[in-house]
Amino acid sequence: MRLEALARAKINLFLHAGTRRPDGYHALASWVAFAATGDRLSVEALPEDIELQVSGPQAAALAPGTDNLVLAAAHAVRAEAGRRGLRHGGAAIALVKSLPVASGIGGGSADAAATLHLLNEFWELDLGFGTLMDLALPLGSDVPVCLYNRSAVMTGRGETIAAGPELPAIPIVLVHPGVPLSTANVFARLATPSGIALPNLPEAIADSRQLAAVLARTANDLEAPAMALAPAIGDALAALRAQDGALLARMSGSGATCFALFADDAAAQNAAIALKRARPNWWIAATRLDC
Ligand code: C5P
Repeated sequence: MRLEALARAKINLFLHAGTRRPDGYHALASWVAFAATGDRLSVEALPEDIELQVSGPQAAALAPGTDNLVLAAAHAVRAEAGRRGLRHGGAAIALVKSLPVASGIGGGSADAAATLHLLNEFWELDLGFGTLMDLALPLGSDVPVCLYNRSAVMTGRGETIAAGPELPAIPIVLVHPGVPLSTANVFARLATPSGIALPNLPEAIADSRQLAAVLARTANDLEAPAMALAPAIGDALAALRAQDGALLARMSGSGATCFALFADDAAAQNAAIALKRARPNWWIAATRLDC
């Protein structure tokens, strides 16, 4: 038996932060949606061991063996199965890494969340969503929202998830200017958080223009501190804004990936072609928010 999953890129449409809490984390209010592009995971049976094989265009950026979130997620599921006395075997997990590492679009978090879902199914454990959520948070603040895997408003440190506005397919372009950023370093430089009062959001978004209008009243508070660490983010935002038909450009998460919204797929694809020509060393993808 072989099971597969797509670990979709996470996009923070806005990200508002509060002050630093006593536990070191910042209170957040963030609307998160997911893109049609992502990493691919598959799992096949092994008698006992849990093994991970990584391939794909971004595999080289992952140091082999070190605190890989996929393995941590797999061991978390197995430990939970053990606590409940449930039968399980091992697993040979294959990860095809396409999303840039440490880039603000949750590649590692989405991989971990997909692993929780996959192994729950693969080992036929029947763990409920709440149990998987409990396993998700210790793996990282973005893992719960990636487990939810559709338009969501996340608050708390990231663990409180509510359904976000419904979204149609929204054409977007993602640009990563090649600089990995540590989330902790970006948060440490956050000087002017805008606070976590939730802005008014409609129940559903009709199209890209409406989404851009709603987002224009919001921000990513981490953009300024991330840009101070990686000025190339300013170049990525400027390059996105200069494209024909770009409705709004913003950084996702703690960066450095930036996204721009477009009214139609052709505009997004043309923008990606132009950007790739101008910046052959950047990671650039035309895709859709696809909830
Ligand atoms: O939870 P995660 O491992 O992704 O967090 C990495 C670091 O980012 C934390 O150690 C913390 O410094 C910072 N962070 C934060 N507030 C959050 C999420 C992350 O300050 N809500």
